[in-house]
Amino acid sequence: MTAQHTITLTVNGRRYERAVEPRLLLADFLRHTIGLTGTHVGCEHGVCGACTVLINGDSMRSCLLFAIQLDGASVETVESLGGPGNLSPLQECFREHHALQCGFCTPGMLMTATDLLRKYPLATDEQIREGLSGNLCRCTGYEHIVKAVRAAVSNREAER
Ligand code: FES
Ligand code: FES
Repeated sequence: MTAQHTITLTVNGRRYERAVEPRLLLADFLRHTIGLTGTHVGCEHGVCGACTVLINGDSMRSCLLFAIQLDGASVETVESLGGPGNLSPLQECFREHHALQCGFCTPGMLMTATDLLRKYPLATDEQIREGLSGNLCRCTGYEHIVKAVRAAVSNREAER
């Protein structure tokens, strides 16, 4: 049996201290160890972006990181945004603009878009497309996702 190591992560503002095997991926820590299944796992090798979360404020692939690497880190998952009956403004934009179909890519899209909206002006659709280019969607053709993020940019500018 592999030795376990105790790590502490802050996830969505809550502190978790857990003993983990060194091989445990962050995606599996989130989904199985602490039960936050909003983060999806698709390709499991860094291509699709479905597993994207924010780590210390930067979007990263949770399927490419070991939980043990993140001892002391702060993680934000899609659960931090909102839920049924309590959608965040970005989630509302996705709903209004039909930016999802099966929804499998949506948690990763939302977390990548959250990172982009916090950091970049996103003045053009090209910038939005480039920012989202690491996240694959098999359903929407991307057009509605770009529209949703464009609407979120407009909301952000209106609030300034
Ligand atoms: S599941 Fe992590 S990039 Fe696809
Ligand atoms: S909505 Fe189905 S993969 Fe994007």
